[in-house]
Amino acid sequence: MNLDFSQIVPFIPFLLKGIGATLQFVSISILLGFILGTLLALCKITNIRLLKIFANVYTSIFRGTPLILQLWIIYFAVPQLTGYDIPEYLTAILAFGLNSAAYVSEIIRAGIMAVDRGQMEAAMALGIPYRPMMLNIILPQAIKNILPALVNEFITLTKESAIVSTIGYLDLMRRAQIIGAQIYRNFEALFLAGVIYWVMVYILTKIGELVERRLRQSDTH
Ligand code: ARG
Repeated sequence: MNLDFSQIVPFIPFLLKGIGATLQFVSISILLGFILGTLLALCKITNIRLLKIFANVYTSIFRGTPLILQLWIIYFAVPQLTGYDIPEYLTAILAFGLNSAAYVSEIIRAGIMAVDRGQMEAAMALGIPYRPMMLNIILPQAIKNILPALVNEFITLTKESAIVSTIGYLDLMRRAQIIGAQIYRNFEALFLAGVIYWVMVYILTKIGELVERRLRQSDTH
């Protein structure tokens, strides 16, 4: 077996910088996806037909094509149409945020449907307008139930983030690739990158469990 971890030691700081690069755009994307996804979910349950159609078509397109294709369209194809280059960082945020919104909208729609109808009926009977009813009564209950699915989405984006290496964004994956090419050995750097991805997902899972426990606690008081 031909293994020698000592050669990648000088490159470890370079690799570790990828953690920040990856987490930075993934967390902004998830925020963007969450906000857009909530709006899309509201469009899907409204009676206004045009909004409903828009939200469904949006979901169909972003869920029905590969994320890497969406990423490449924003990075390589949009400049051809507009004449403007979009930086890697912004491309990554846009592609992941827009893609995640499609998935999150379905998660949130399911969450809203699962809240007892009586809640909405009671709020309406009390004359509570739509906005505060949604923001203060329905969505908080929906979000509590869908938290595991949202954590899942966060994990998916974190791992899927590795595809930004294909547009030259210096994330964890791209850095591991570069180190491998520098020292002519791939196993060590890829292995280390794998361990780092696993640790990131493990931490996310634990944070998810913690938040879930907190939310459940407030149920019993
Ligand atoms: N590999 C999948 C695709 O290309 C990932 C989609 C992203 N998934 C998500 N839950 N946002 O379609």
